[in-house]
Order: sequence, then structure tokens, then C-alpha cells
Amino acid sequence: MKNKIKKSPLLGVNIDHIATLRQARGTVYPQPVEAALIAEVSGADLITMHLREDRRHIQDSDMSRVQDVIKCRLNMEMAATAEMIKLAINLKPSDVCLVPEKREELTTEGGLDVINNFEKIKKACHQLQDKNINVSLFIDADEKQINMAQKTGAVAIELHTGFYADSFGDIQQQELNKIVLMAKLADEMGLMVNAGHGLHYTNVQEVAKIPQIKELNIGHSIIATSVFLGLGNAVLKMKTCIRQRE
Ligand code: PXP
Repeated sequence: MKNKIKKSPLLGVNIDHIATLRQARGTVYPQPVEAALIAEVSGADLITMHLREDRRHIQDSDMSRVQDVIKCRLNMEMAATAEMIKLAINLKPSDVCLVPEKREELTTEGGLDVINNFEKIKKACHQLQDKNINVSLFIDADEKQINMAQKTGAVAIELHTGFYADSFGDIQQQELNKIVLMAKLADEMGLMVNAGHGLHYTNVQEVAKIPQIKELNIGHSIIATSVFLGLGNAVLKMKTCIRQRE
């Protein structure tokens, strides 16, 4: 048990932006499935992909092609809609992370509002977990949201690190303090605690040190760095950065 909590977090590599590059030109390259395989052999513990309702990057066929070839877990990020739940039940990823989705946003901008969407989210958690898909809820580091998240029956939460990542100085320290406190609280409530959004090679260390955090999902910074280093080296470099508790 002691060893378990000390172990550094696992790395989920989000490969959405490989598809962003492909969709920008309407070409058949680069392929997310190739990226998934490279990330996996370079140390990714999970492959994370967000199938958005507007299909702006990842397409349905990318999900199944990746699911067919990887040996590690597939973490599907999606909105809690009937369409997505049906797709996830057919695809059977090991994990689903429920996220809020607005068509006009550049990326996921805030955590789920579990308080005001409680019944819908609870139903989605049950539908997915009944099919042996672990559900995590992407939420802000907020005590009220965590309390409600636990009541939905979801096994995990992913704490939104975007506000921490986008701030500086004292404000950033306050954001980090919130994440530290809320990770501890959620862990005590029996929830598995993950984190992600906006993490890069110089801000990830403080989050990776938080003992309760089991998995980090990181995309944009790894894909951006891969332009210069290659994807394998960018994943390896991130694995080194998150090794903070060994
Ligand atoms: N976690 C969740 C729930 C997300 O929606 C995203 C973005 O798709 C990420 C993690 C990864 O964020 P980033 O690309 O900023 O690393």
C-alpha cells in the first residue's frame, strides 16, 4: 500500500492533435494509430483520445483502429450524450472520461458541472460502468463538485489543471494548493484521482508530486514537442518529468 501511493503517476498520452494536423489539410496522414503505437512503445501507460461531437480532430474510425492495436488502456474522452454513450459501449475502451463540450470552444475550457447535471451524469456512469468501462469525471478542484461526483458512482475523477497551468506566481501557487487539497479529499472519499489539461514539461513536476494522483493525461505539449524531438523522445522526456515520487 505504501509503495502504491509513492509510485509516480501513469502517463496517458493524448493524441488528438495528430488528427488535428491531418484534418487541417484533409489528408490521410498523419495517422493517430501510428502515433498511438509509437507513444505506447515509448512508455505511454494509456492512450487518450477525445471524440468530439463535431469530429474536429479524432474520427470514429481512429478510435476503433487504435483500440484494435494497442496493448495498453484506451481512455476515451467524450461528452455524456446518448450518441457518445452508444459509441463507447460498442467500442468498449477500458476507460471513459466524461467532459463538458461546447462547440465554439478551442479546447475543453472548464470542468463538468456535476451539481447541475447530476441525473444525466449519474445515468451515463451507470450505463458505462455496467459494461465494465471505468468512468472518470473531469472536474474543477472544487469540494462541492467532488462531493457530487462521488454520488454519481463514478470510480474516478480527473482534476482540471488548466487554471494552474495558465496562471503565474501567487495565483498559480493558490491553484496548486487547491489541487493538492482536493486530491487528498477525493482520495479519502474513495475516488481514484487523475489530473490533466495544460500540463507541459516545466509545470508538470509539482502536480506529479501529489501523492494521491494516479494518472496524468497530457496531449498538446507532447505533440508540440514531438515536432522537434520526434514523438517517441517527447513521450520519454515527459515520463522523466513525471517521475517525482520514486
Ligand atoms: N484531460 C482532459 C479531460 C482533456 O479534455 C484534455 C484535452 O483534450 C487533456 C486532459 C489534455 O490536455 P492538453 O492537451 O492541454 O495536455
